[in-house]
Amino acid sequence: MKLKQSITLVALLTPLVFSLCTKDPAGLPGVITPEYDDSPYELDYGRFAEPDMGDNPLTLEGVKLGRMLFYEKLLSKDNSISCGSCHIQQDGFSDPDQFSAGVDGSLGKRQAMPIFNMLWHTNEFFWDGRAHLLRDQSLMPIQDELEMKETLENVVTKLSETTTYPAQFIRAFGDAEITSVRMSLAMEQFMNSIISNQSKYDKYLDGQATLTESEERGRILFSTEYNPGFPELSGADCAHCHGGSNFDNNRYMNNGLDADAAQDDIGREAATGDPRDRAKFKVPSLRNIALTSPYMHDGRFTTLEVVVDHYDHGIVISETVDPALAYSAQTGLQLTDQDKIDLINFMKTLTDETMITDERFSDPFQ
Ligand code: HEC
Ligand code: HEC
Repeated sequence: MKLKQSITLVALLTPLVFSLCTKDPAGLPGVITPEYDDSPYELDYGRFAEPDMGDNPLTLEGVKLGRMLFYEKLLSKDNSISCGSCHIQQDGFSDPDQFSAGVDGSLGKRQAMPIFNMLWHTNEFFWDGRAHLLRDQSLMPIQDELEMKETLENVVTKLSETTTYPAQFIRAFGDAEITSVRMSLAMEQFMNSIISNQSKYDKYLDGQATLTESEERGRILFSTEYNPGFPELSGADCAHCHGGSNFDNNRYMNNGLDADAAQDDIGREAATGDPRDRAKFKVPSLRNIALTSPYMHDGRFTTLEVVVDHYDHGIVISETVDPALAYSAQTGLQLTDQDKIDLINFMKTLTDETMITDERFSDPFQ
């Protein structure tokens, strides 16, 4: 180790060692020195496919550090907000406001996205997918002018001046050096630990709950194809895009919100530079959807009723609208009032009360 580095380390550790002084049971002063601990964090992913942990397997101490950082207000310029200010656990890790307030109260241009089951998002992050990996994503809100508006250098300095973080970096990474790369790996671990698989629908799949008649009708409508030739057999075809165990498809699509001239947000095109991606957005998971209003990338719809009406008879045709939706828009889905109620009742079975109250995901500073 270079001399300069070891001096820094000693300087970092000295206040720490003193602050961790404690009395042992015999009444003699002892010192608890933080130690590296790579005990694995056990993920309970139930019936989901085994996740690919890549090069950042979850450890108890890594997840713990990530959780601290996720709820750490020092990550913002004026120490006023954390990731958890916009990704609120009881709201499915989303924000009930249409546009979240950053530091200085500045408003962003998109609706906050919920955070759970991130391990199964195989195709990038944000509404336009501009962040390749979750670890890349985690450093962007810190530096975003409309969000936390802070530099990574300042965050590293602020965290280094605390007593808790150097100790926790030792436990998670083996030494007290705080870097933005390590921060991003820890936050990636914490976000990957948030799993939602305890909804009524999951219990139904496990044979531990029964759906009501309305929920069951909704389930069938949700996953049955639209068929204008046979209206009584025709469904709403939501699973066409919101499919699989996470009710998404890891793709970017245009679900018919705006005509070409009205597409203020070009969506995926901004990330790929390809005009064929104009106004396409990440197909969001519908798990916990009853908790995460308002809806769509700009939070334009406040209720699920309005969302269902949009798919039923509000699809707007444009260059990049999805062909399946353009097709059903010719006649509309022709859902009856009861169909709409049933579809919504089914979507409500995707709410996971366990996740939103799970202490492992809550603010550790409260
Ligand atoms: C001021 C509010 C705000 C803060 C603070 C904030 N976010 Fe977000 N988050 C958003 C918004 C808005 C989006 C969608 C932005 C977009 O698509 O351009 C988002 C998107 C995300 C996503 C993408 C999810 C997906 O499915 O692709 C993740 C992950 C995320 N944020 C994690 C974090 C982390 C980690 C922090 C703290 C370092 C954080 N956020 C801080 C508002 C916020
Ligand atoms: C062609 C693919 C496609 C089909 C079919 C589809 N959706 Fe979507 N859905 C999307 C996309 C893409 C978005 C995000 C659009 C945006 O924000 O600009 C979305 C967003 C949503 C949202 C808002 C999610 C959020 O977090 O804000 C809900 C709710 C929803 N869809 C429900 C449904 C229902 C119910 C059906 C069936 C009636 C359906 N979708 C059919 C692609 C589709």
